Amino acid sequence: CGIVGYNGVLDAKEILLKGLEKLEYRGYDSAGIAVRNEEGVTVFKEKGRIADLRTAVNDEVDANIGIGHTRWATHGVPNKLNAHPHQSVTGRFTLVHNGVIENYHLLQRAYLKGIQMQSDTDTEVIVQLIDLFAKEGLSTVEAFRKTLSLVHGSYALALLDQEDADTIYVAKNKSPLLVGVGDGFNVVASDAMAMLQVTDQFIELRDKEIVLVHKDKVEITTLDGRVIDRKPFKAELDASDIEKGTYPHYMLKEIDEQPGVVRKIIQEYSNPNGELSIDENILTAIKEADRLYIIAAGTSYHAGLIGKQYFEKIAGIPVEVHISSEFGYNMPLLSEKPLFIFITQSGETADSRQVLVKVKEKGYSALTITNVPGSTLSREADYTLLLHAGPEIAVASTKAYVAQVAVLALTAYVTAQSLGKDLNFDLKQELGIAANAIQTLVDSKDDLELIAEDYLKVARNAFFIGRNLDYYVSLEGALKLKEISYIQAEGFAGGELKHGTIALIEEGTPVFALATQEYVALNIRGNVKEVVARGANACIISMEGINEEGDRLVIPKVHTLLTPLVSVIPLQLISYYAALHRRADVDKPRNLAKSVTVE
Ligand code: G6P
Repeated sequence: CGIVGYNGVLDAKEILLKGLEKLEYRGYDSAGIAVRNEEGVTVFKEKGRIADLRTAVNDEVDANIGIGHTRWATHGVPNKLNAHPHQSVTGRFTLVHNGVIENYHLLQRAYLKGIQMQSDTDTEVIVQLIDLFAKEGLSTVEAFRKTLSLVHGSYALALLDQEDADTIYVAKNKSPLLVGVGDGFNVVASDAMAMLQVTDQFIELRDKEIVLVHKDKVEITTLDGRVIDRKPFKAELDASDIEKGTYPHYMLKEIDEQPGVVRKIIQEYSNPNGELSIDENILTAIKEADRLYIIAAGTSYHAGLIGKQYFEKIAGIPVEVHISSEFGYNMPLLSEKPLFIFITQSGETADSRQVLVKVKEKGYSALTITNVPGSTLSREADYTLLLHAGPEIAVASTKAYVAQVAVLALTAYVTAQSLGKDLNFDLKQELGIAANAIQTLVDSKDDLELIAEDYLKVARNAFFIGRNLDYYVSLEGALKLKEISYIQAEGFAGGELKHGTIALIEEGTPVFALATQEYVALNIRGNVKEVVARGANACIISMEGINEEGDRLVIPKVHTLLTPLVSVIPLQLISYYAALHRRADVDKPRNLAKSVTVE
């Protein structure tokens, strides 16, 4: 979910709606805004996209203070009733919330027995509690504070009080939140992008802080009342980076940006002598560790699987890769001197963050590899490596994955050099070759569109197989296809398919086989024969030098270790065109959110 707030002199509705449009990547099940003027607070909410909300908003309501929310449903189905903002029974308080209140049932039973709840959300409990405590005589800020002291869970909150024309009450715990400052106005937003339209000055909030956002000042205190003085930082984001220009979809724009992303990474991580390098402290931390633990979710997890190969094969350092939502609650035995590496495009994923909090509590060091400078996981880890991919807006990750793989390769390589390993290739040169190969593939859209049409137009399901590095790319290829086209897809280790899953192969089932790893090329080709013998419609994607007649697509030759950077490109584009054929919403697939800030 994403939240916004505006307190100033301009028309709040428009600023809130524009802000929510920028936050739609956090969820788009339903949305709402509440604005306040002399006549009181007016709430507009709607199921669906911000565009639907826009049509529901009455243009005539003129107000200079307000809050807004775009939702990715957790408690309660996505409908108008459960959409935020939520109001207290008396109508005095109006609230938007991002996060999960774990003890909302207990609080409801303990304090709100007589109150008829209006929604199925955990959020409503907070606003009803504030109202209750205010009725008992507390000031709004005291009621807010008391409520927060009772709540367990994660929250980014913004609250309006009917009886107070100049304050948005804000609080944060575990969910991301920033306050933006301007001349004669102040704003609230889940991320800077949402409010770049009015300011580039933001104050970061820490967990368990409360902020009173007035028109002309911002007062920050901790939950226990300590006054905080924190200066704003300048958000280094270019508003034009987050426009899609002439592209029909952000995803296509981001796919096209990938050659440039790899080149930018080479540039950002080259020292004045032109050699690849990373921060000395990070290098030392990696070298001192006896084992690296890569923690990530979704696409970033798939990049992590490749990162393991790099650290082990290039630098000789053992690595474990874990899914964050599992690791935090089922920790394996750890080595003596672990270093945790969090891979996260957004730097906000709650599943990954809970692991970071736990490992920091145990006193371990952590490195975050992220695309978003200043994001929560970046701030809270000891070290950060940036992806330099530019804002990624489409929900399905493309350029951030390529950037993650490139940064992992580079980090492993620089570590190996510093450990005095005998390296028989020049990674900088090889990354340049890979960037050119990516360019060739993004320029082959017509062919890839045809492949999508040939193999996926009527497909019910699809398989992606590969061995070794190709296997990890297969997982990512299947995820891409599922995410945006809703075709059921599975990524599989080529050799494992026959141990059960091959039962699903029927006449015409599409099987995409990656064959870029020379060492196992014959084996994967054998696996292709097995599925073809059972009726599959196989599409072999191989690489120059090891290609054979009949391969449907041959990617340009790149270093074996860097094939994931390149072989993923056709899979992204095939998924893109499959989604287009099915008229699916490419940039905002159903049920998903780009940044999932709840566990
Ligand atoms: C969400 C997105 C995925 C993404 C995952 C991890 O589920 O829909 O595309 O891979 O979160 O996100 P992160 O920002 O941590 O890389």
